[in-house]
Amino acid sequence: DWTSDMFIDITVAELKERIGDDKVVMGLSGGVDSSVAATLIHRAIGENLTCVFVDNGLLRKNEYEEVLESYKTLGLNVIGVDSKQRFYDALAGISDPETKRKAIGKAFIEVFDDEAHKIDGVKWLGQGTIYPDVIESVSVKGPSATIKSHHNVGGLPDFMKLSVVEPLNTLFKDEVREVGRALEIPEKIIGRHPFPGPGLAIRILGDITEEKVKTLQEVDYIFIQGLKNHGLYDQVWQAGAILLPIQSVGVMGDERTYERVVALRAVGSVDGMTADWIHLPYDFLGKMSNEIINRVKGVNRVVYDISSKPPATIEWE
Ligand code: XMP
Repeated sequence: DWTSDMFIDITVAELKERIGDDKVVMGLSGGVDSSVAATLIHRAIGENLTCVFVDNGLLRKNEYEEVLESYKTLGLNVIGVDSKQRFYDALAGISDPETKRKAIGKAFIEVFDDEAHKIDGVKWLGQGTIYPDVIESVSVKGPSATIKSHHNVGGLPDFMKLSVVEPLNTLFKDEVREVGRALEIPEKIIGRHPFPGPGLAIRILGDITEEKVKTLQEVDYIFIQGLKNHGLYDQVWQAGAILLPIQSVGVMGDERTYERVVALRAVGSVDGMTADWIHLPYDFLGKMSNEIINRVKGVNRVVYDISSKPPATIEWE
């Protein structure tokens, strides 16, 4: 019978044995998987683990500050890197979804490599890979795939010469959450919805500007807070907002407006492979629509995505 405590004991012992006195560097995303993986490695080797958390300018509103703070509470040694401008520059003028992913992956590798260089004698790269990432092709879009395509180009960054340690690569998401709870990681991190590595960049259809990111952050914030305040957040696998590349006509007072449209998305899923749109209550959706249109400048229309996966995907890009 599998228990989280057994898994933790065995894994920590194995990590100690494998890593010994070596140093490990690890990129954190703010999500459940990398947080749990880092906490396990930290249990095994303590201060020899250095974590890197990058602000790519594509996170949710307030996410960078809040996540950095909660990592510090966990006792992790985290270096926060503000690289917003670097990512915005790398994305300027790019509209194609896969080109966006490549540009983000490349910028991330550069930033991470810079940081890894600052750690003397590091030998290992920690990763929060979980079992579905290993078996399934979400990784076609995921960070490991980006690393692979870079790999093919040649000229490996130094951190890629490191040996990889992936303590969660036999677990499913619900098991990762159980392990996280047994490690006493705050529920705020454990219960967090999955969020894609390229962040809001793949929820802004068309090219990325800082102004569009700010607009989407506000919309997303209202929606996510709304889900939390109405007790709906934990009933949803993943939720967010998408900024559409179109404008629509509206009316405000006696003025005609011509502004942006946002789509709200909330899905139920077990592993992200398939997903059903969630039948959120109409009065909740109505409330969200009013709040978003009243409070977010430049948005005059809200729609709700009622597509399931397949044939749609969870993200729009
Ligand atoms: P899709 O859109 O393929 O998404 O149904 C399935 C799950 O994967 C996440 N996702 C990504 N995660 N990098 C990531 O790290 C990506 O490029 C990426 N694309 C999608 C998505 O948020 C969902 O949880």
